[in-house]
Amino acid sequence: MRRFPALEGLPPYVFAEINRLKAAAAAAGQDILDLGMGNPDLQPPRVVLEALSEAVEREDAHRYSDSRGILELRQAKARYYERRFGVKLDPETEIIATLGSKEGFATLARTITAPGDTALVPAPCYPIHAFAFIMASGAVTGLPAHPGDELLRAAEEAIRMAPRKPIAMVLNYPSNPLTVTADIEFYREAVAFAKKHDILLLSDLAYSEIYFGDTPPPSIFEVEGAKDIAVEFTSMSKTFSMAGWRLGFAAGAPHVIGAMAKVKSYLDYGGFEPMQHAAIRALDHSESAGADVRARYESRRDALIAGFADAGVDVPAPDATMFVWMPLPEDFEGGSVAFAEHALKTVGVAVSPGVGFGPSGEDHMRLALIADEDRLREAAGRLAGLYPAAAKPRIVSNG
Ligand SMILES: Cc1ncc(COP(=O)(O)O)c(C=O)c1O
Repeated sequence: MRRFPALEGLPPYVFAEINRLKAAAAAAGQDILDLGMGNPDLQPPRVVLEALSEAVEREDAHRYSDSRGILELRQAKARYYERRFGVKLDPETEIIATLGSKEGFATLARTITAPGDTALVPAPCYPIHAFAFIMASGAVTGLPAHPGDELLRAAEEAIRMAPRKPIAMVLNYPSNPLTVTADIEFYREAVAFAKKHDILLLSDLAYSEIYFGDTPPPSIFEVEGAKDIAVEFTSMSKTFSMAGWRLGFAAGAPHVIGAMAKVKSYLDYGGFEPMQHAAIRALDHSESAGADVRARYESRRDALIAGFADAGVDVPAPDATMFVWMPLPEDFEGGSVAFAEHALKTVGVAVSPGVGFGPSGEDHMRLALIADEDRLREAAGRLAGLYPAAAKPRIVSNG
């Protein structure tokens, strides 16, 4: 049979079997509590939907758009960066709209990767952080996913050992799946490190507005000079619950954004223009949208954690994101896919197996806060039943 090079290095999709079981259970009328995919169930802000309806009536609404995103949209993104982070970005040369940040990340990897190039990525990671390079005929080296000295030491060692210097390092804070956050001091060290080794930093800030403490996650561009070597990805999907709209952004180093713009000009014509107009409205309401979405996910997080606590399982509350990253029961014999199947079959809860985020996630599962509080409590109670009584207090860390 013909081999397709693009498939080389892509393992079987771990969620496929879970999805099959989920569909079968739903078809059989079973009530499945689905905490699998990070697919927001909340509604976008009303003003955004109104802006979409208005824009759809425009006579020029249905034509091809600009593959970089319309200028007004890039200007709205620049205003957001300035208000939120005190960072100035040039909408002409330093910002590009993407068809979701996932497409943006993949296009960037395709833009910067030559066959055999390596990137340094967190382990475990959101899958595209690794597979974007693999699909571009590159390779990846996994690094600790927690921000700190250990990560930078491992990166230093990876560079020292590599036959060819890595081209980029991926940072993702608040992180999926670990839910950990980074402070500006870490970014300062990472920027100094990247400059010393002349590698690009790719920061995925998809969860910029989903945090529960008093300190909002910083942008890497708050570090002086970061724009020389960093590109940062942001998304409309989580802050504004616009996941299906497929709209994100890449911003930063003008030579990289310019190169991406050229590649994208061959690939697409930009997103549907009414959506871009509505996204401008959303970005200009980022403070209220962010506050609303935080309140919702915080209350859901608390319900899930309380549900576990009531059943005697102590799970630390994550500081950010819409996920809980949780060790499997110690006595469970089998990996995370087997556990996910077991949870679905025995207690009707769908979870993401940790191995979906790389081999280092194998002894964990990820729960997404995509149901209301009652159902999350119910899901926690059911899952807690899979943790043997003696093992219940053993969960001490969610990283
Ligand atoms: C860390 C991270 N980056 C990017 C994305 C994808 O975002 P988008 O919908 O903008 O492609 C996700 C989605 O779950 C994510 O968790």
